[in-house]
Amino acid sequence: MLRKLILLNLIFINTLQLFADEGMWLPLLLEQKNQAEMQSLGLRLSAEDIYSVNNSSLKDAIVHFGGGCTGEVVSDQGLILTNHHCGYGQIQARSTIENDYLTNGFWASSLQEELPNPGLTVSFLIEMKDVTAAVFQGINNNMSLSEKNRKKNANIAAIKKEATSGNHYEATVRPYYYGNEYYLLVYETFTDIRLVGAPPSNIGKFGGDTDNWMWPRHTGDFSVFRIYAGSDNKPAPYSKENVPFKPRKHLTISLRGVQPDDFTFVYGFPGRTEEYLPSLGVDLAVNTINPIRIALRGIRLGIISKYSETNDTIRLQYAAKHAGIANGWKKWIGESNGIKQLRGVEKKKEYETRFAAWAGTDEADPTPYSELLASFESAYKPYAYWKSTETWLSESVMSVEALKLARAFTPLAEICANRDSSEAAIKTLSENYIKSIDGFFKNYNSRIDREIFVAMLRMYMEAGSQKTNYPEILNTQLKKFNGSYQAMADHFFETSLFADKNRISSMLQSFTRKSIKKIEKDPFYILGIELEKYQREKVAPAIRAFNRTFDSLMPIYMKAQMEMEPSKRFYPDANSTLRVSYGKVAGYTPFDGVNYNYYTTLDGIIEKENPEVYDYVVEPRLKELYLAKDFGPYADASGEMRTCFIATNHTSGGNSGSPVMNSNGELIGINFDRCWEGTMSDLMYSPDRCRNISLDIRYCLFIIDKLAGARHLIDEMTIVH
Ligand code: ARG
Ligand code: GLU
Repeated sequence: MLRKLILLNLIFINTLQLFADEGMWLPLLLEQKNQAEMQSLGLRLSAEDIYSVNNSSLKDAIVHFGGGCTGEVVSDQGLILTNHHCGYGQIQARSTIENDYLTNGFWASSLQEELPNPGLTVSFLIEMKDVTAAVFQGINNNMSLSEKNRKKNANIAAIKKEATSGNHYEATVRPYYYGNEYYLLVYETFTDIRLVGAPPSNIGKFGGDTDNWMWPRHTGDFSVFRIYAGSDNKPAPYSKENVPFKPRKHLTISLRGVQPDDFTFVYGFPGRTEEYLPSLGVDLAVNTINPIRIALRGIRLGIISKYSETNDTIRLQYAAKHAGIANGWKKWIGESNGIKQLRGVEKKKEYETRFAAWAGTDEADPTPYSELLASFESAYKPYAYWKSTETWLSESVMSVEALKLARAFTPLAEICANRDSSEAAIKTLSENYIKSIDGFFKNYNSRIDREIFVAMLRMYMEAGSQKTNYPEILNTQLKKFNGSYQAMADHFFETSLFADKNRISSMLQSFTRKSIKKIEKDPFYILGIELEKYQREKVAPAIRAFNRTFDSLMPIYMKAQMEMEPSKRFYPDANSTLRVSYGKVAGYTPFDGVNYNYYTTLDGIIEKENPEVYDYVVEPRLKELYLAKDFGPYADASGEMRTCFIATNHTSGGNSGSPVMNSNGELIGINFDRCWEGTMSDLMYSPDRCRNISLDIRYCLFIIDKLAGARHLIDEMTIVH
């Protein structure tokens, strides 16, 4: 009896855990699906406080930042917080040699000093609405697929038109659950967004790519912007006359910090997850595609690092490129390991066995679902081959920078080839190239690129070509150099226009229609054209064919999965629309014998300090404050200056910058990463190992107040103790 009780208890605890942490929920369905559970876990708000169309709610303080990140409004004057890595491009663009804001940080001391950022936008979600019925209106099963699509697109266009008539909003209609449901999303987009503040990189990017995706973490990953509006408080293009936007809502900030098991939720725009893939999809991603990417990127990163470590100019030139290449590389390593640890592919297979039994496989009496798994199987077989081919190509030879630059010259070649285009038009276009050439060569080193070219050719010809289809041009070219990768690369780099700034610039300076001959003879240009043609003619059709099949099967498979487990609560895969994730503050066990604490402190920054290693240089002013223990009101009750914390919220790329809130809906942190052992959560979530990493808001305020002395920003905020 006792054993039975314990067993029952265990099952109960297990299902509770499963329900509590996984999921990225739709704000407008919280009341129906999540409110009771969220409140039982500690939330003291109602779903209506989080999302409401009629009253101001927390949603009115959340923005989609620059299309790829999230931000939150923290003052009644349109002040917003996001990550340093989300504002990175803007901070870099505003930096010059004399005013290197990226390295030294930037703090506007008044509104007048806040810096405009052309092209940067933030969007508020005004409303979301289930429009499934309207999207499918007038569609029936007697129609052909193209008739159905035409009707669907017309319905969507009408829905969007209606949503935006008579207002200044933008609307999209997006599929959820692979097109089983559709929602209308209405946004208000602001285009005058100014940079207000950024910590120096040795705070905002402390730990760099070494610590990226990892816990324990000490990155002060935040930056500060402000939304400006016209005098009517509506979006307006940049103008000196614009004024700080008066938001419908701004978040209250709490200095109370977090304790283990505290309820937290994250409100933001996760980009893409694939939780409902068949096992074949997960297997392909983690056992075939990720390893190709990891191997090729590992080599590129090795070459870049080798040069960066001994040369500061190169390190600066390649910092952003290195970060970009390394971010994917490291995440995929974590993802493949995570799925292996979870036995993810096997679990999906076991699930599919149950699914097949449920769907029925009786050939005499097929159900609508009995063919699904077999159809996936026949689609994935050829796809695995072509997807590998595509990955090999794009991650190896096509990643060579000179080749990429050469490919960018296709439009110039086309305008020259066209008899109708005037010399003046050609001149104008070639002048545009002169400008972008400067940008390219500012952050380019041909020695690195040449070494990468050699390494990529070798990898591709010796490993990639064995397992994939590959373009013949590489063979024919190599033959000219007796199969020597180095000789081929030397020839390319010694003769190509695209590896040498002087050569390309002088050609562009005196560019006429005839100059195109020189481009057309260029080895990188020729190789680029051939690879592109191969891509277009051989690879793309195979990938497209798979996508068509996948897009027709996945809606059915999704629907079937939901029917098979009617009592399970499903959430739609992330699609860059606003979601709520919730969970609790918790450490974890990354591997046997090790327990990770749920928070880090300033002590850890001092511990990691290493003046020899760029990622671990400690900002001198930060060290002074540390030694003086001058933490102001931002220290924890324990006296520590806490820097980051982790929790079980299910997040993904795009959630960067998202507010992390407590049970009162007060801001306690800014989400910026996930722990390495849990990066497989885009494919499969595990409450044991998946943690989102947040900057403790008190560390953020400490930097703004004590380090930057930007007290006026603190005074704008609403802070509770
Ligand atoms: N891993 C985080 C994300 O996926 C942060 C990336 C930027 N930081 C870096 N060191 N590369 O966006
Ligand atoms: N750093 C990621 C971002 O930019 C968030 C981390 C994640 O993928 O969860 O979106």
